[in-house]
Amino acid sequence: MRKRVLTGSRPSGSPHLGNYFGALLPAIELMKEHELFFFLADFHALNEGVAKEKLHQDSLTLTATMLACGLDPEVAHFYCQSGVPEVAELAWILNCVAPLGMMQRSVAYKDAVQKGIEVNMGVFCYPILMAADILLYDADLVPVGQDQKQHLEMARDFAARFNHQFADILKLPEPLISEQVAIIPGTDGNKMSKTKDNVIAIFAPDKVWKKQISSIVTSSEGLDDPKDPSQCTVYKLYQLLASKEEALAMAERYRAGGYGFGHAKAALLDKIKEEFSEKRDKYLDYLDRPDDLRDILATGSRKTRVLAQEKLQVIKENLGFLSP
Ligand code: ADP
Ligand code: TRP
Repeated sequence: MRKRVLTGSRPSGSPHLGNYFGALLPAIELMKEHELFFFLADFHALNEGVAKEKLHQDSLTLTATMLACGLDPEVAHFYCQSGVPEVAELAWILNCVAPLGMMQRSVAYKDAVQKGIEVNMGVFCYPILMAADILLYDADLVPVGQDQKQHLEMARDFAARFNHQFADILKLPEPLISEQVAIIPGTDGNKMSKTKDNVIAIFAPDKVWKKQISSIVTSSEGLDDPKDPSQCTVYKLYQLLASKEEALAMAERYRAGGYGFGHAKAALLDKIKEEFSEKRDKYLDYLDRPDDLRDILATGSRKTRVLAQEKLQVIKENLGFLSP
């Protein structure tokens, strides 16, 4: 059955393979069968204290990325969080049902405190704004990474509290956490992340791809030694991009010996080029047309805003306001 699927992403720099396989591609795939809402979480980005120019550029980057990877703004609701300010209104309303104790147990907040980061109220209230993102559109399914599971539980909790206190009008969303999209490893074998300088960018010049791939850390076995593919980052990344048969064939070569990591890296580079060269050209073409990108998002935000206003009207009618 066609469901309403909603997800968002913070604009935060050039996307890498982890972002692509962990977040962007699953969302775009869901567009084929469901009604997709995808938004730039730019209100959320503010709590990181990001500079104005960077937020603007990162927003263009994310917009161009999604379009180049196949998000169709005619089919999906593709918009900016800040382009639908009703979300902040709903967030305020949810503030008034969110228990302080639960907020203090938020993993993201506790992590920030533990790391000694000076926590602003944006960080503290992040789960409430995220709940508003979701509940404003009656989303059925929310594809997120494991790290966001608690936020989804909180959104369900706030919705249930609201429904109990006022009227049964907020839909409880289901998380869609794909177990098979494992953590994508970076060039050092740890989780790929912008902050760790271990990424393979999805849109880079050929020679940067080559450099990033050649920097993948491998074990010390020699060319002739048999190797265990399941322990190798090159193989793990290759597997994401290759067909089942191709991946099996590479695994065989690893086990047989006489196949070096250099060979595997060259095969991985070929696959990256195959998957991303054309998308990269589209991406660069979009980036050359920032006004078009702004227009696409402005149109998407305007259309989506109509739905948000309708929902908020119903919500406010149930709160007792004199002029909802
Ligand atoms: P980064 O760690 O590079 O800053 P973000 O935290 O901005 O990445 O990630 C945005 C989304 O991309 C996450 O919610 C997650 O779903 C996905 N993601 C990021 N890195 C990975 C990874 N290494 N493996 C799988 N998914 C990832
Ligand atoms: N919190 C998500 C992240 O950091 C991004 C996000 C914000 C989101 N609002 C959302 C995801 C609503 C899904 C639904 O990755």
